[in-house]
Amino acid sequence: MATYDLLVIGAGPGGYVCAIRAAQLGLKVAVAEGRATLGGTCLNVGCIPSKALLHATHELHEANHNFGRMGLVVPQPQVDWARMLAYKDEVIGQNTTGIEFLFKKNKIDWLKGYASIPAPGQVALNGETHEARAIVIASGSQASTLPGVTVDEEVVVTSTGALSLKAIPQSMVVIGAGVIGLEMGSVYSRLGTEVTVVEYLDQITPGMDAEVCKQFQRLLQKQGLTFVLGTAVQGVERTAAGAVVTHKSRKTGKEDRLEAEVVLVATGRKPFVDGLGLDALGVQMTPRGQIATDAGFATSVPGLYAIGDVREGPMLAHKAEDEGVAVAEILAGQHGHVNYGVIPGVIYTTPEVATVGQTEEQLKAEGRAYKVGKFPFMGNGRAKAVFQGEGFVKLLSDKATDRILGCHIIGPMAGDLIHEVAVAMEFGASAEDLARTCHAHPTFSEAVREAALACGDGAIHA
Ligand code: FAD
Ligand code: NAI
Repeated sequence: MATYDLLVIGAGPGGYVCAIRAAQLGLKVAVAEGRATLGGTCLNVGCIPSKALLHATHELHEANHNFGRMGLVVPQPQVDWARMLAYKDEVIGQNTTGIEFLFKKNKIDWLKGYASIPAPGQVALNGETHEARAIVIASGSQASTLPGVTVDEEVVVTSTGALSLKAIPQSMVVIGAGVIGLEMGSVYSRLGTEVTVVEYLDQITPGMDAEVCKQFQRLLQKQGLTFVLGTAVQGVERTAAGAVVTHKSRKTGKEDRLEAEVVLVATGRKPFVDGLGLDALGVQMTPRGQIATDAGFATSVPGLYAIGDVREGPMLAHKAEDEGVAVAEILAGQHGHVNYGVIPGVIYTTPEVATVGQTEEQLKAEGRAYKVGKFPFMGNGRAKAVFQGEGFVKLLSDKATDRILGCHIIGPMAGDLIHEVAVAMEFGASAEDLARTCHAHPTFSEAVREAALACGDGAIHA
């Protein structure tokens, strides 16, 4: 048994970042992690492996479709699936062992095993009880599947199974046109799988800027993905050849079925709190099954905190990380906080989709007077050179003050471009501030500047 200033449960982006910052601030820290490797969902079966497969298949797409246009004559690329999976696993390994190194460097104890909280200030695992002045729960989330759908992670899979399929399927039905469905759907579509995405609502990526959604859907369809929108999945049955998905149109009530070799259930994730003993402790939960916390991440039990996917807010690695830093600072007597108004969201398809701040639909609903500055990548020389002129940047600013309220980008490197706007928003900048900042030519970021110009006197290249 040992006594710590801080014991973190879960070594995902929330937990491991919290532990490192707390150790840097002088606290004696341990992290309990049940998985065999550090890094949580994100590094092991989430962000990192999905981005590795997106990268590999993007390169395949470039070789198949754009190399010839640039005078690069190469033989038809062949996919060695086993090697592609090995590359993905190598990337995971590099990242998870990197966290082990950081733990050693910061003198953080890794307690291996699944932990429970028998009493306030105590964490039990492997038959031992450890004491801690503060406990931070960062136990993350798990896939939430549909009633009547049995996941076997071979034919009917969540994202975890989809990251390690035994073979590339000829056909795949994806249930849910959210982030996982579209990223993993893109991976397999580029590998030659016939991908059909069934979505309950009438648009893909619900909640995102409507114009972006429309263009995104158009471009994905052009790449070969098929969408069945406004349709509720009724059930999934295993067959000898794969599975059958039965679904019903929400408008017409018409029932139909889709057969596929693999079915990916991507209908959202839910907090993971199994085995922690929260009921017995009397920890207050939200109606959505999240751990309820106050603005300082404190739960209803003194000395017990929660961060990341297990509490409210977007289920994103960087949101979990920022909460990890904030709670560590609070525990060290500082004033950590997270600005939830400026958390970017990125979908790593081609083109990428990125968003920060409010959407036009949200501003309309609030009755806020705003300006829209839009600029198409078709007017950006660099984007045209890489065959990615089909997206746009949309910047929203306050009508009276010109303060930036949001930005929505579909186009090349959108996930990186969005951060110039995020920084500007943190500084309370106006669209004119961005527009008057010299941007190097030729860069994709000139499209952001042009959108900012379009909020004022007008873009130059439109
Ligand atoms: P997690 O990363 O889920 O980590 C929690 C850890 O706690 C786990 O390792 C678990 O084993 C451990 N644990 C749980 N209970 C216990 C216990 N009792 N004792 C000990 N250990 C325990 N987000 C992005 O921002 N960008 C992306 O590109 C992105 N891609 C994703 C792709 C996929 C396929 C998926 C599934 C998710 C993706 N996400 C992405 C979401 C991201 O992975 C999560 O938001 C993030 O991992 C949440 O971090 P966390 O620290 O809260 O929890
Ligand atoms: P999601 O919430 O993004 O999308 C789920 C989709 O499934 C929604 O569009 C929903 O309307 C639909 N749906 C729900 N029930 C349905 C039904 N019965 N039939 C048809 N459609 C149905 O969830 P997703 O994609 O599973 O991702 C989970 C979390 O992981 C997200 O919160 C996301 O933030 C995170 N993530 C982030 C990534 C990134 O940042 N690039 C990548 C992957 C995941």
